[in-house]
Amino acid sequence: MGMGGWQEYSVVDGNAVGALRKVDTTHVPLSHYLGTVGMPGVAAWYGLVKIIAPKAGDTVVIGAATGAVGSAFAALAKARGCRAVGIAGGTEKCRYALEELGFDACIDYKEHSDVQAMSKALKEACPNGIDGYFENVGGWIMDAVMLRMNAFSRVALCGMIAGYDGAPLPMANLALMLINRMKIEGFIVSEHMEVWPDALKELGTLVGTGKLRPRETMAQGIAAAPEAFWGLLKGKNFGKQLVKLI
Ligand SMILES: NC(=O)c1ccc[n+]([C@@H]2O[C@H](COP(=O)([O-])OP(=O)(O)OC[C@H]3O[C@@H](n4cnc5c(N)ncnc54)[C@H](OP(=O)(O)O)[C@@H]3O)[C@@H](O)[C@H]2O)c1
Repeated sequence: MGMGGWQEYSVVDGNAVGALRKVDTTHVPLSHYLGTVGMPGVAAWYGLVKIIAPKAGDTVVIGAATGAVGSAFAALAKARGCRAVGIAGGTEKCRYALEELGFDACIDYKEHSDVQAMSKALKEACPNGIDGYFENVGGWIMDAVMLRMNAFSRVALCGMIAGYDGAPLPMANLALMLINRMKIEGFIVSEHMEVWPDALKELGTLVGTGKLRPRETMAQGIAAAPEAFWGLLKGKNFGKQLVKLI
């Protein structure tokens, strides 16, 4: 396993630390090392465990709940005694979040499609308010979540995909950060290599023991890569988006 570019072949120095990692496919399928048992899974782990740092009984919420990062979140949160609530696009993704990923509730933002409707749905799904929010999306969904955050709640800022097409992402409810004495912290998972062994051990065990069965969407060939990437910004992927090169 290694970090390459958008290319079919690359030459790397096999002796350089971290350039290539041998992975064990006895219990974990190879492709999952690019998803739940790889960088995206560790991102979910870091944001939840190190930034949100939940206590048993806390309610934690995540956007893009069924994607590569979101897929591991509920299992990690449930293992820490939390109520896990997802936000995802469409009834099929929400059903999968509940039935396969272990979320306690999932809100379809295409059905609850403005701040008021989302905030109302969050009130029902999170009767005790929200203690931790894992942000993958940004924009109006974040505005709605902010309205339900508890005092001394934490936000792990992992991504703001709603703005990756260049759209501005103004925040309407910034004052609530002060009123609720909130902590909001962004992170880049590759800057926290110290947590990777612990995170991968937990994630690998979840997948290896069959407790977590993440979905994947596979595009064929490098020529399909740009469209596959573009699809991420429109929610066309279901689970981790992969491109099979050969
Ligand atoms: N900080 C880090 O170190 C780090 C590491 C990895 C990933 N990330 C970030 O984590 C986020 C998730 O990445 P991923 O690779 O796991 O992608 P992903 O969740 O597998 O795919 C992206 C998902 O985002 C949702 N989405 C896209 N545009 C949206 C919009 N305008 N409004 C609402 N939802 C939208 C779609 O899900 P729905 O169909 O459910 O809407 C889409 O399937 C991204 O923001 C990424 O940049 C950050």
